[in-house]
Amino acid sequence: NWTTGNVIEEQVAAIREQVGDKRAICGLSGGVDSAVAAALVQKAIGSQLTCVYVDHGLMRKGETEQVEKDFVAATGVQLKVVDAQDRFLKALAGVSDPEEKRKIIGREFIRVFEQAQAEIVAEARSGEDVAFLVQGTLYPDVVESGGGAGTANIKSHHNVGGLPEDLEFELVEPLRKLFKDEVRMVGQELGLPEEIVQRQPFPGPGLGIRIVGEVTRDRLDLLREADAIAREELTAAGLDRDIWQCPVVLLADVRSVGVQGDGRTYGHPIVLRPVSSEDAMTADWTRMPYDVLARISTRITNEVADVNRVVLDVTSKPPGTIEWE
Ligand code: XMP
Repeated sequence: NWTTGNVIEEQVAAIREQVGDKRAICGLSGGVDSAVAAALVQKAIGSQLTCVYVDHGLMRKGETEQVEKDFVAATGVQLKVVDAQDRFLKALAGVSDPEEKRKIIGREFIRVFEQAQAEIVAEARSGEDVAFLVQGTLYPDVVESGGGAGTANIKSHHNVGGLPEDLEFELVEPLRKLFKDEVRMVGQELGLPEEIVQRQPFPGPGLGIRIVGEVTRDRLDLLREADAIAREELTAAGLDRDIWQCPVVLLADVRSVGVQGDGRTYGHPIVLRPVSSEDAMTADWTRMPYDVLARISTRITNEVADVNRVVLDVTSKPPGTIEWE
């Protein structure tokens, strides 16, 4: 019979058997899947595991700290953090096209991750020792990648921890038989922080695809503030479980006229995109309480410089995708 305890016990034994006395590497994205996979492997082989977190500077407020501090505190995992913020900003300079941005972020991510991987291999007693790469692959991913109709490439999805072409590691995939809700239960049982276990979906390319226009440091800072306010109010209103996710988007190339105090402003709009969904394949816009929308709007326009308008996206998917890019 299925209990989280059984799943953990079973996987810990299987991981020990598979990895033996070798070493393993796991990329952490800040998301639920990689965190739970890493925690399981950590429980099984302890210090034989090294996790890598690439800080691309496109995360939301507090998310990097959640990985660096809370996740490490909860698991005792060995973590290598690579600060690659400047590198990503440089690579993204002057780029506005969504697909171009996605490709650049995916490419840079893999380069930085592979470099970190190479360093870990070099630091090990002998390179041979590092033989395993941990992936948070879930059951639906397994089924989906088994092929089938309708795999048209609408957006080039970039999954953090994406595999290099010339794979030189054997994969450890302890979540292959699990669905998302089961993964959350396992994570909870393993004592992971609530903020990580209950996290809503967030795209690998992060805020980079939530700035319509060029990605710059200032725009990222602005969007991070607006997003933090929206998340804070949604959580305070108890809506986290009703809403699948709520992208907050900065229309960086759009300006509109406003008035604040007794002065004219000429600022950017922020878009709220709350959606309800079962699997992100289709979605409907969430009929959110007006008073919560009002609070978010008031706070964002008051607290975030250069934003003078908040708009609500009332498009279902299809025809709109959940993300704007
Ligand atoms: P769209 O915008 O295609 O998004 O309706 C569907 C779901 O996927 C998430 N998303 C991504 N997740 N890497 C990811 O890991 C990506 O490149 C990516 N792009 C979109 C999006 O947040 C939504 O949950």
